[in-house]
Amino acid sequence: MSDNAILSAIEKQEWLQPIQDKGEELVKNAYKAAGPAGQTVKNALHGVWLGHPLHAAITDVPVGSWTAALALDLLEASGQTQYAAGADAAIAVGLVGAVASAAAGLTDWSETHGKPQRVGAVHGMLNSVAAVLYTGSYIARKQNQRSLGRSLSYLGYALVLGSAYLGGELSYSQRIGVDHAADADKEFPQEFTPVCSESDLQEGQPKRIVWQETELFLLKRGNEIYAMGNKCAHLGGPLSEGKIEGDVVQCPWHGSQFCMKDGSVVSGPATNNQPVLDVQVEGSQVLVKARRD
Ligand code: FES
Repeated sequence: MSDNAILSAIEKQEWLQPIQDKGEELVKNAYKAAGPAGQTVKNALHGVWLGHPLHAAITDVPVGSWTAALALDLLEASGQTQYAAGADAAIAVGLVGAVASAAAGLTDWSETHGKPQRVGAVHGMLNSVAAVLYTGSYIARKQNQRSLGRSLSYLGYALVLGSAYLGGELSYSQRIGVDHAADADKEFPQEFTPVCSESDLQEGQPKRIVWQETELFLLKRGNEIYAMGNKCAHLGGPLSEGKIEGDVVQCPWHGSQFCMKDGSVVSGPATNNQPVLDVQVEGSQVLVKARRD
């Protein structure tokens, strides 16, 4: 259970579990039904092309726009009506950004489990209510009900702030969206170091090796031996238990795929590359060291 009272209260809300299960199923089935095109869209929304979770980057659009709208609304409310059009435009830009942000967030959320998924569900619900309030605000403004429009925006902004707090906790406390393989290469041997005997490796069979408490993934194929960090960059899944197809290993937890030659992401939800090691064979020993670009 979290030390944080707000997170701890959310984590206890067992009634949310069926909603989480249904939501996860719906999102995953929708992508599956769309076939390869669905996977392409899914990868794009995770942020594979960006090398960074797209959701974290794109949330700046609604939050920034609605912050600008708040400032302009306050000026309008003080009698400076020339700021009204700017406030309305900022509300509209925020709504467009919110749709994109929700699509990316929902895609990431569908690949989480347990407590982070529950906190993520509440984060999404708060954002949805905020988006409804901002939509109502925009409509009220267009009907010249300026005071009602501003009031709905103020309420929406309060929810957005609460939701942003939960989003921050998800990233910084629960490590959703961070690179779980970051810094692994600093724990790798920095010079060629024996980690196993060549006979420990069987053709095409992934092998987990622990070197000074650091987990390595090794795979022998023909004359090649591949080596990379064993903990998946997405959420730390064990790549040595994954599926091998050609030069690609697929994580058993959420299906991220990495090229074993250079660690690059072939398919998400991971958006960060997997750290790789250089390999040498000396006599019967397999030696590895962190690859330097
Ligand atoms: S831990 Fe999620 S894909 Fe590997």
